[in-house]
Amino acid sequence: MKNIILIGFMGSGKTSAGISLSYRLRRTMVDTDKEIERLYHMRIPEIFERLGEEEFRKMETGYLEKLLRGSGGKIISTGGGLPMREDNRELLKKLGTVIYLRVRPETVCSRLAGDTSRPLLQGEEKDEKVKRLLEMRAPVYESAADIAIDTDEKTTDGIVDEILERIGVWR
Ligand code: S3P
Repeated sequence: MKNIILIGFMGSGKTSAGISLSYRLRRTMVDTDKEIERLYHMRIPEIFERLGEEEFRKMETGYLEKLLRGSGGKIISTGGGLPMREDNRELLKKLGTVIYLRVRPETVCSRLAGDTSRPLLQGEEKDEKVKRLLEMRAPVYESAADIAIDTDEKTTDGIVDEILERIGVWR
């Protein structure tokens, strides 16, 4: 059975939508960030600090390969930077249906205002960082996705309804 994979920027709601989808479809959900933290016994900021971003990206690829060897039918929520590697985009394609949760930079900024868990958004001028990174990444997300969904001003339930409708699952 195909997996359903959620991609998108930090704060786009991949984890919330993934949890809700897994309840609605009664399927197992995995979150690549959480699985990497569990496998390597480190939180993401610690991985970035001690090993660097490049090493984290290799861990993401390794985890996707592991998923590909396992059984399908899962809901897979991914880290925001994961589709930026071409290898990973190819693995995502093989894994199943890729759904991009589009979000505006202003929405990300308000959702992640006090967040300290995303190493790439720490320090000064967070809003600028979000805007710049999102602008750079948006075309890549679009190209990696089978389906793209606008999520601004939608509830998690509304987003999940739309996902189910677009992939043709009867609710
Ligand atoms: C990252 C997004 C994060 C996490 C890491 C790097 C990124 O995941 O993988 O901090 O490069 O966009 P979320 O998208 O779940 O926040």
